[in-house]
Amino acid sequence: MRLDKMISSTGIASRSQISSAVRAGRVLVDGAVVKKADMQVDPDKVSVIYCGTPVCYRKYTYIMLNKPEGYVSATEDGKLPTVIELLPAELQKIGLFPCGRLDKNTLGLMLLSNDGDTSHRLLAPKSHVAKAYAFRLKFPLSDADIAQLESGVDIGGYVTAPCCVERTDEREGRITLTEGKYHQIKLMMEAVHNQVTYLERVTFGPLVLDTALKRGEWRYLSDDEIALLLKK
Ligand code: URA
Repeated sequence: MRLDKMISSTGIASRSQISSAVRAGRVLVDGAVVKKADMQVDPDKVSVIYCGTPVCYRKYTYIMLNKPEGYVSATEDGKLPTVIELLPAELQKIGLFPCGRLDKNTLGLMLLSNDGDTSHRLLAPKSHVAKAYAFRLKFPLSDADIAQLESGVDIGGYVTAPCCVERTDEREGRITLTEGKYHQIKLMMEAVHNQVTYLERVTFGPLVLDTALKRGEWRYLSDDEIALLLKK
């Protein structure tokens, strides 16, 4: 693999930044200053230092994004901005896609990756990966509504699986689902004659939304988060 491709795939720098760093003698391979950005390396064996930072190569990239309103969970859309456009240019070229969908006006935790197998596993219905959402409603939510939501409601011919609902205020709370039908929470709340006015995903499987990320901001997953995500 080309050295500049290996380094840029980690998102640390763009290929042109890497070329400049190589020219400035700031890239080391196995302890020696590199002369050519396109030299061939074995990414699993080589030790690379880019501008003083060790490069940790991964075959796949995993990113946590705090999705803002107005962005669609897709890689391309003819009209609306996509969550991919919130990433720097070099990360828009490495095949990242959103792992699952959030509605255009839903906020919060979005996993972006180019690891198709893991994404497939996390989203497969049989995996029952838990996702928690903070919600706000137009009307108060009664104990009877919660009991109905938790045991399953009919959303257009499909009865939802058991879930967990916690109320934190008469119109606010958190719902944890282990499935993901289109517009599921909005439809579930409509089934109990209510309406969602705010929805934010706060967990996705083992991942918890990093509160240091402002809307539209992203960060790489930590090694611990990746290990939890890849655990079967
Ligand atoms: N349920 C919804 O209704 N919308 C989302 O974006 C996610 C879950």
